[in-house]
Amino acid sequence: MAHDRRDHDEKAADTSGISRRGFISRVGAGAAVVAVASKASAESAKPTETMQATELSRITLTVNGQQRQVLVEPRWTLSHVLREELGLTGTKVGCERGECGACTVLIDGKPRYSCMTLAVEAQDADIVTVEGLMDGEDLGPTQEAFVEKDAFQCGYCTSGQILAVEGMLGDNPNPSLDEIRIGVSGNLCRCGAYVHIFQAAQRAAELKQGVGGES
Ligand code: FES
Ligand code: FES
Repeated sequence: MAHDRRDHDEKAADTSGISRRGFISRVGAGAAVVAVASKASAESAKPTETMQATELSRITLTVNGQQRQVLVEPRWTLSHVLREELGLTGTKVGCERGECGACTVLIDGKPRYSCMTLAVEAQDADIVTVEGLMDGEDLGPTQEAFVEKDAFQCGYCTSGQILAVEGMLGDNPNPSLDEIRIGVSGNLCRCGAYVHIFQAAQRAAELKQGVGGES
């Protein structure tokens, strides 16, 4: 059978001027030439000088009522610094481009995407993360409301949702359902727990006003 194949190749060589084996070896040689040429062009494209490491700046952030000094690169986002430099991993990162809201924190009382905020921009601001809503070992009222209303499934969006609600209630302590929908519209929940999230926001408003629980 192998013999037949060789005969076939040789016949093909007679008619086309190149055998299958010859074709493969030529292609191999061509590929080697291309590889050598690519390597040569990649080497010629290499920068002749090594890039300098970006200098770090020492900044002070006020996070959850505490002043924290941290060395940052100017390009670092607040979400990166909170999580990777300060260990506040309650702040989640989803899209990292201002679409999902998982990274929401309060900056001067307003919900903000920390993935779209540079750490150096937040130096003079009051930053609150989900950890800062705790009352010692106890949950704060908005956190408590999310637990009570079972307002999460996987929980990845939950920190951002809680801070969006917290910020909304800071501006409007008694929102209507439509106002709640608008208030958390910058926060996506891919588990689709919206109905419970809206109920949690209503419950958080009650708890903050001392209705049916401690404020
Ligand atoms: S991670 Fe910041 S908006 Fe999605
Ligand atoms: S609970 Fe899973 S994304 Fe909202």
